[in-house]
Amino acid sequence: MSDIYPVPEEWAKRARLDAAGYEKMYGLSLADPGSFWLEQARRLDWIKRPELAGDWSFDEEDFHISWFADGKLNVAANCIDRHLKKRGAATAIIWEPDDPDMAPIRLSYLELHREVCRFANVLKAQGVRKGDRVTIYLPMIPEAAFAVLACARIGAIHSVVFAGFSPEALAGRITDCDSTVCITADEGRRGGRRTPLKANVDAAAGHAPALEKVIVVQSTGGDVTMTEGRDIWYHEAAADVSDDCPPEPMDAEDPLFILYTSGSTGKPKGVLHTSGGYLLWASLTHELCFDYREGEVFWCAADIGWVTGHSYILYGPLANGATTVMFEGVPNWPDASRIWQVVDKHQVNTLFTAPTALRALMKDGDEYVKATSRASLRLLGTVGEPINPEAWRWYHDVAGDGRCPIIDTWWQTETGGAMIAPLPGATDLKPGSATRPLPGIDPQLVDPDGNILHGATQGNLVIARSWPGQMRTVWNDHARFFETYFTTYKGKYFTGDGCRRDEDGYYWITGRVDDVINVSGHRMGTAEVESALVAHPRVAEAAVVGMPHAVKGQGIYAYVTLNAGCEPGEELRGELIKWVRSEIGPIATPDALQFAPGLPKTRSGKIMRRILRKIAENDVSSLGDTSTLADPAVVDDLVENRVVHA
Ligand code: WTA
Repeated sequence: MSDIYPVPEEWAKRARLDAAGYEKMYGLSLADPGSFWLEQARRLDWIKRPELAGDWSFDEEDFHISWFADGKLNVAANCIDRHLKKRGAATAIIWEPDDPDMAPIRLSYLELHREVCRFANVLKAQGVRKGDRVTIYLPMIPEAAFAVLACARIGAIHSVVFAGFSPEALAGRITDCDSTVCITADEGRRGGRRTPLKANVDAAAGHAPALEKVIVVQSTGGDVTMTEGRDIWYHEAAADVSDDCPPEPMDAEDPLFILYTSGSTGKPKGVLHTSGGYLLWASLTHELCFDYREGEVFWCAADIGWVTGHSYILYGPLANGATTVMFEGVPNWPDASRIWQVVDKHQVNTLFTAPTALRALMKDGDEYVKATSRASLRLLGTVGEPINPEAWRWYHDVAGDGRCPIIDTWWQTETGGAMIAPLPGATDLKPGSATRPLPGIDPQLVDPDGNILHGATQGNLVIARSWPGQMRTVWNDHARFFETYFTTYKGKYFTGDGCRRDEDGYYWITGRVDDVINVSGHRMGTAEVESALVAHPRVAEAAVVGMPHAVKGQGIYAYVTLNAGCEPGEELRGELIKWVRSEIGPIATPDALQFAPGLPKTRSGKIMRRILRKIAENDVSSLGDTSTLADPAVVDDLVENRVVHA
């Protein structure tokens, strides 16, 4: 039995949707999707209003997905221009710097309009046209928002690469989408430390022959080397452009952005989202999940390098005319009070963050929370990984003083926005459950053979029909898109997640069932870490699995077999860990690395990851049947020399 937190009475009264309202809306969305979605489409400002809603099939013979295909709009105009008359002077973005002693910046919608137009004109002057790919490798500074929206304004496709990724990883992403322009800054600033972003781009450029232009934003004033003919200072280029740039009319199905994410195999894939359906989904889910009201301050504490930042720092809130907070820093620097100090400083009404951040803050003690007021908060959201009930309760009882509903949103880069989540005025909460599907979302649980499971049960989570925010393809690899998501269970979108449904129809995500791990809410393919390890001259073979981690949710556990003649040792262990960091980025740093003379393989040579996972979990009493292994003796060595962690 789990405990239930009923909808607070004032929420049932004041929210847009109460329980009956949700049931009605959900029922309609599935019963008559055509008229339901055309009606919902009215929330956007269309140049040509669509008469077509969803047109899709997940079957191989007729595979296609499109939404509002005859509609025309511009996403940036929806996020900015249409608000100018009614709320031009209202604050669009509050920027809070890393250093608490530096002044924050508040930008009105009018100012945002001007900045985005200027950025768009700079891009145009550099030859960027509709459909071109622009890589954005920026820290969390206002220019990141300008750059993203400038691309949307002129119809260029942005590909934001998280500023924590290595030059290697950046080069791969630039090359995969043939991006000729990269926007970066001299340096990034986070938690009092600086990252040499421009130098990283310089290093990446060597492996990214497509790159022609680098636009550099001056942020910290740190030293950089500018390459004649390739590198341009943004402030110089912006000095003589106009601050008017008419938005480009786009088809609803024209691409809006590519965002690279990790899968279970191969290199990261470029998830492609299009204009109309994505924006509708970001905007609708932002309004429903957070019951956003005019004048409120909304803070999604993610980075724009991830989908959460795309949908809930920028597109969703701005489409809804909200005031959105962009935070350059980290929640626990200079100390664990920072996140709550920012809440007080900017009178934040809704805070949306990841369980890993909560677990880290929780560990530091309640006094950091209690030293602040937090009276402005009315809703608390979480995203990115399963939230353990203990962290949920701490968020609810300590951070929210028991007043604020917890909105646990389950979704993915691929889904564009929240899919399973409570609505504050409609859904009773259960700690650890993302609760129930949003309108239009038809989740099913299936067994490994694809049989649909009914009632209270556990299985693999699939989505049985399309929704507007669904990704449309993997950039440059439509076959991989179909193969990855629609072949495991024919005719359905497979999420890669396992899930339990309880007797009340509540969904409890249990985590990935594929070779993707979730480290501090960041998605990591084990295959990516493995290929980084085997790129080291002394490594013959590597296998990587997830392991439980008290703060990160999952940590990275690597098994490494060295080349003949190479001796394992502490020094080499340290070197390999550093190697992975520099190949991919700090988020891929292995938490444990075990030298393994051999890996457990079947006679056909397949690594038995099940056994490696168990050892990494320190659960060695139930390794299961090892008799089918080519050499069962390797398991004894692995168990004996396992890295036991806290
Ligand atoms: C996991 C992040 C449980 C899940 C928006 C999913 C979650 C993956 C939740 C996608 C949640 C995300 N509860 N698990 N509320 N939200 N996940 O693409 O495993 O970075 O498949 O998108 O994160 O990660 P991604």
